[in-house]
Amino acid sequence: MNRRPNRQAIMASVLTADFAALGDQCRRLEMAGVDGIHWDVMDGLAVPSLSFGPDVIAACRRHTAIPFEAHLMTNQPDRLVDQMAQAGCQTVIVHPDWLQNPRRTLQGIQERGLSAGVALSPGSPVDLARWHLDIVDLVLVMTVEPGYGGQQRIALMTDKVREVSLLVERQDRRIEIEVDGGVRPDNIAEVFGAGAGRFVIGSALWEDATFEAAVTSLREAAASP
Ligand code: DX5
Ligand code: ZN
Repeated sequence: MNRRPNRQAIMASVLTADFAALGDQCRRLEMAGVDGIHWDVMDGLAVPSLSFGPDVIAACRRHTAIPFEAHLMTNQPDRLVDQMAQAGCQTVIVHPDWLQNPRRTLQGIQERGLSAGVALSPGSPVDLARWHLDIVDLVLVMTVEPGYGGQQRIALMTDKVREVSLLVERQDRRIEIEVDGGVRPDNIAEVFGAGAGRFVIGSALWEDATFEAAVTSLREAAASP
């Protein structure tokens, strides 16, 4: 039985970072107390943006010791799983509705010793995750359309977090619920209360005076009713 999360894991999306200083930004984010780095891997085909690939992630691996998770928004993500593992990621997250055989992809991620996550775009039904809950380690509820940082979150997605949380609670294995997109101090408590325990934070980290201040205000906001 999954217990409700009692702590917020903050995963920094570096899509908003200074790409000319990514290694240093990862190091500073670790020092500021984030729990990991969220790499939005975009190929310019599955989504309009083109971001970074395994070589960039591997180069940053040397600058920080915190976990890396890869959110694959690419065509044929299966071909990238090995490269994400070699680049130093511990978790790989895929969109099941973009895959030929989602189960095979998820099992392939786990066979490489990685944690497997399913990502649900705003228009994707919870059932897309539901029928993989026996093998996934994480469900990523996207609160923005995939492809860009800095968007406003879609408040309706809190209902989806609740729906996923009810499903996960009935599983007899540990599954994390992560929210991704437009999460800020003024809305993090709502999704935390709905059952999410892991939060992808991008632009909100760069909107405060320092990363430390942003992390502190997010953690304080999540804990406040
Ligand atoms: C969007 C990405 C998100 C996004 C989060 O496609 O999956 O991770 O970068 O960034 P913010 O927090 O700025 O919405
Ligand atoms: Zn993401």
